[in-house]
Amino acid sequence: MSAWASNPPEQLPAWQALGEAAKRQKTAKLPRLDAKRLARFSHRLGPLLVTFARQRVDEPTRRLLLELAAQSGIPQAIRDLFAGEAVNQTEGRAALHMALRATGSGDGGAAAASHAAQQARERSLDLAEAVRAGRWRGCAGKPIRTVLHIGIGGSHLGPALAIDALGGDGPQIRFLANVDGAAVEAALAGLDAETTLAIVVSKSFATEETLANAQAVCSWFIERTGDPGIVARQFVAVTANAEAAQAFGVPQERCLPLWDWVGGRFSLWAATGLPVAIALGAAGFEALLGGAREVDVHFQSTPLTDNLPVLLGLLQVWNANFLGAASHAVLPYDRRLRLLPDFLQQLEMESNGKSTRLDGEQSRVNTAPVVWGGEETNGQHAYHQLLHQGTRTVSADFLACVAPGHRLAAHHDALLANCFAQGQALWAGHATDDPHRRTVGGRPSTTILLDELTPRALGALLALYEHKAFCAGVIWQINSFDQWGVEVGKRLAAPIVRALRDGDDGPADAATSQLLGEVRRLRQR
Ligand code: F6P
Repeated sequence: MSAWASNPPEQLPAWQALGEAAKRQKTAKLPRLDAKRLARFSHRLGPLLVTFARQRVDEPTRRLLLELAAQSGIPQAIRDLFAGEAVNQTEGRAALHMALRATGSGDGGAAAASHAAQQARERSLDLAEAVRAGRWRGCAGKPIRTVLHIGIGGSHLGPALAIDALGGDGPQIRFLANVDGAAVEAALAGLDAETTLAIVVSKSFATEETLANAQAVCSWFIERTGDPGIVARQFVAVTANAEAAQAFGVPQERCLPLWDWVGGRFSLWAATGLPVAIALGAAGFEALLGGAREVDVHFQSTPLTDNLPVLLGLLQVWNANFLGAASHAVLPYDRRLRLLPDFLQQLEMESNGKSTRLDGEQSRVNTAPVVWGGEETNGQHAYHQLLHQGTRTVSADFLACVAPGHRLAAHHDALLANCFAQGQALWAGHATDDPHRRTVGGRPSTTILLDELTPRALGALLALYEHKAFCAGVIWQINSFDQWGVEVGKRLAAPIVRALRDGDDGPADAATSQLLGEVRRLRQR
């Protein structure tokens, strides 16, 4: 299998026509935000309202974008994705994260994946309920009060976001990701070893940071309890490499599976989400999966004209490749979603930050933009200046929840008002004779309004972005499911760790040798 399109993206007729449309857009008046436009450019999907009215897309451009989706082969790509074809072509694997939240059985490879996922989900949810109910006991026979989740990248960002967003009434959940002694100390501060459960999440069980942190936590447990058997009792592993987890000391019955057909950044729905299930309970976790499942159904069954992940992917391509958007800002106007920019940074930049096409040729068009963002309205008093008056356009997603997660109604009104006002200001600009105060407007944004931040709504939101990333990858003709670029740095770090330990240079280049020399010099003082 190679790209779903017959030609590289820039040779597709729709791509070329969009180039012309973009030239026209530069001087065209902004489309009027009348009732017809609002109806045409707003879509409801379960608990989400998504509006593209403030995108620089007129009716002819909308039609061309839809032609681009068709010429890029998106409908077939969606079918292949759900059928369990090896869409992760460089690794010869399927990408079946949808099977993790499926209720039905699917066909072929998808059926086997669904079956395995359902069995694993039962084990995982049983464990979560036992921990919540205090039935799951540690070495000293005491119930669990704190869960320490150890993992990085896709093995961390999803659960961290979900817990931050949804809270829960279970034991306290802490996260340890970075290989930084200060992070280890902070994660362990004040914990009682007898009432702490450690969950090590690593698909490969070979990630240096995670293994170093798991080892440090393991030593801490043994030091505190004097019981070397504690790893076997109070550690759970979530991994596709059960052998390595068992060699680490986690018994088979406490190893929950991952599979080669689920990428780390798509794995929240598997046992990677175990801390979320512990925090929310089985029903809450099922609701998260249910929200994502609604989007899977929509993605599979909705015509391109109204297919939200497809439309979001097309808009990303339009803004980045045709309107010259320098980067993409994710702006959640809700504290509970403050980790969404981090999550989407990995999802979009690790999935689509690539320059080799599926056919092995160098891409001649730009692929993923830089994704960034932060908790609003803080950003308004920091980087929004650049959004309004910077020399380069930045596209933005605004996110807000209609129902607040607190009782301060006036605060929530202020938050929503600022969210809506920023979109309005970016779009309309500010006309004045004073060039310093003038803002040009026409800066594109999408607004996603959640009725309420429930597990279902969060599940839908994240699945929407997962499928958006896939669609953009299909249009750019790259593999959204590998991450070879990350591997190089991982390989180089190992000998440098040894060089630091042994006080020599190892196979470092001259610049690294200089830095190592400086570390040695200062350490000897
Ligand atoms: O950063 C690269 C990466 O491979 C991510 O894709 C992945 O989520 C993360 O490392 C952690 O990997 P693992 O789950 O194997 O420890």
